[in-house]
Amino acid sequence: MSPAAAAAAATAPMIDVQDLYKSFNGFPVLKGVSLQMAEGTTTVVLGGSGSGKTVLMKHIMGLFRPDQGRVIVDGQDISTMGRQELSTFRERMGMVFQSAALFDSMTVGDNVAFPLREHGNLSEQEIAEKVKKTLAVVDLHDVEGKYPAELSGGMRKRVGLARAIIRDPKIVLYDEPTTGLDPLTTESVDEMILHARERLKVTSVVISHDIGSAFHIADRIAVINEGRIVEEGAPAHVRKSQEPFTRQFLATWFART
Ligand SMILES: Nc1ncnc2c1ncn2[C@@H]1O[C@H](COP(=O)(O)OP(=O)(O)O)[C@@H](O)[C@H]1O
Ligand SMILES: [Mg+2]
Repeated sequence: MSPAAAAAAATAPMIDVQDLYKSFNGFPVLKGVSLQMAEGTTTVVLGGSGSGKTVLMKHIMGLFRPDQGRVIVDGQDISTMGRQELSTFRERMGMVFQSAALFDSMTVGDNVAFPLREHGNLSEQEIAEKVKKTLAVVDLHDVEGKYPAELSGGMRKRVGLARAIIRDPKIVLYDEPTTGLDPLTTESVDEMILHARERLKVTSVVISHDIGSAFHIADRIAVINEGRIVEEGAPAHVRKSQEPFTRQFLATWFART
């Protein structure tokens, strides 16, 4: 790589969403979303329910195709990629679902090992070592033999994250990681996301309507309303926003703190 190309790569965003439009059955959901996320940062996309957060996230994962606009991830335009190429590309992304989405009939160890067994060619011993190491990254020890039902809600989230990161992704996406959790569990999930950023140096995207959590974990906050990003910046900037929707949305939370 030439020095100029290397410099450009160093400053290019890890995720670059450009003027993204998406409608379903003629109903517009995303109406020109543009958003950049720098490598190694945590961005929280904050908005009300039904505002298009999950739809945006699915475009970043290449699960939806834009009607218009582009999604550049790690320097590659995924909006035009073929199915096979996309499926390989998606290996650099880990996804943590709203419900931890674990297989209840499998042990924790088998849940976490699942992506390795599906794709890799590691020996069972290598898999066991990798599972143990990855569980340690999320502060879980000696739980391989347990079943998800034997764990607390916060621990199940950690298992979900371990499964998402076991193949060393560059990007981790979280869809509503704290929705429906009690305050203590929410705090532990926030800590988990902060630790993941520190320890793995991953670029994280968190889709959420949890304002408290957003201000705790975000390097950048993007507020989405009616299919557009209406505010974007560091938490301190967003906190003082004069943008009408953002003010109204945050007021519901600041009234309580
Ligand atoms: N696959 C789909 N087909 C049709 N409509 C969809 C689909 N996915 C999402 N939508 C619609 O897009 C809108 C935004 O949904 P979503 O992104 O899930 O909102 P949220 O911000 O709560 O995550 C909703 O009106 C939803 O019904
Ligand atoms: Mg959603």
